[in-house]
Amino acid sequence: MTSNASKELKLAYGIAIVLLIVGVLSYTAFSAKAPDEPLRIVYTGVGGSVIFDHATHATGYDLACTACHHHPPEPEEGAAMASCTSCHAIPKDGSLPKACLDCHAEDEVGLESMPKKTDAFHSQCIGCHKEMGAGPVECAACHGL
Ligand code: HEC
Ligand code: HEC
Ligand code: HEC
Ligand code: HEC
Ligand code: HEC
Repeated sequence: MTSNASKELKLAYGIAIVLLIVGVLSYTAFSAKAPDEPLRIVYTGVGGSVIFDHATHATGYDLACTACHHHPPEPEEGAAMASCTSCHAIPKDGSLPKACLDCHAEDEVGLESMPKKTDAFHSQCIGCHKEMGAGPVECAACHGL
């Protein structure tokens, strides 16, 4: 009777420890997947390079993360923080970007309302600068060297 009870207790501890390890492993796996928040991003292209200071935009100008990271429409932590490029770089053949398929079925959504990458950046960056009356709006002020 006593030894049975202590066997059960040992079993219970055993299960608890296994669950704890599984929990820690899943947590580690999950956090390893989330991308780091960038400090600065340099875009190079035919327009001339643009430096985007992510750290200062995210913490220095009192902007919510979701002022820029906007899809899904009701963003949960993590899911909405994907790079703009993962969605707005539309494949040349006009097909749905792969990232959409994480959440939508192939025939469920279209691309009519989604601007292409460069338009998406210009519209959001310049749109906010105009709205706030702060930050560069002239080509040369962003496209430096
Ligand atoms: C607020 C900053 C900002 C302003 C102002 C701005 N741009 Fe840009 N521009 C960017 C960013 C960021 C990108 C990078 C997006 C990308 O890679 O397509 C970009 C990309 C481009 C590209 C595409 C580069 C490539 O190789 O794909 C061209 C061309 C361009 N801009 C021209 C202009 C012109 C012309 C103006 C003025 C009418 C202008 N930009 C104003 C930030 C800006
Ligand atoms: C002013 C707009 C803006 C704000 C505010 C902002 N971000 Fe970003 N974030 C960006 C842009 C632009 C990129 C680069 C996306 C690209 O190049 O495709 C980016 C990239 C990222 C990435 C990297 C994504 C990847 O897969 O490479 C993470 C993570 C991120 N942001 C998290 C955050 C968090 C967390 C906050 C709030 C604390 C925040 N951002 C606030 C505009 C912003
Ligand atoms: C998970 C996919 C996804 C990511 C990541 C994403 N977008 Fe979008 N974006 C969309 C979709 C879908 C639409 C069209 C439907 C809508 O407005 O929600 C859109 C619309 C837009 C529009 C036009 C509508 C508007 O709100 O003015 C702009 C500009 C834009 N995105 C810029 C960005 C920028 C800049 C980033 C990165 C900071 C970004 N998007 C990240 C999917 C995404
Ligand atoms: C992280 C998950 C996620 C990803 C990735 C994602 N979406 Fe969505 N999307 C959602 C959710 C959640 C809604 C809201 C669903 C609803 O209202 O029924 C939504 C709604 C939409 C809508 C209709 C509502 C609106 O905002 O106008 C369109 C169109 C859309 N998504 C297109 C896209 C496209 C195109 C991509 C890829 C470029 C994409 N989505 C990637 C989660 C996502
Ligand atoms: C939601 C609003 C918002 C968005 C979106 C935004 N900015 Fe800004 N940006 C600001 C504000 C506010 C300032 C500060 C201006 C000041 O204090 O003079 C600023 C300043 C800047 C400056 C000058 C100072 C610095 O930090 O280097 C540059 C360059 C700039 N932004 C580039 C960009 C680019 C490129 C994007 C798009 C990838 C972008 N911004 C998107 C709000 C925004």
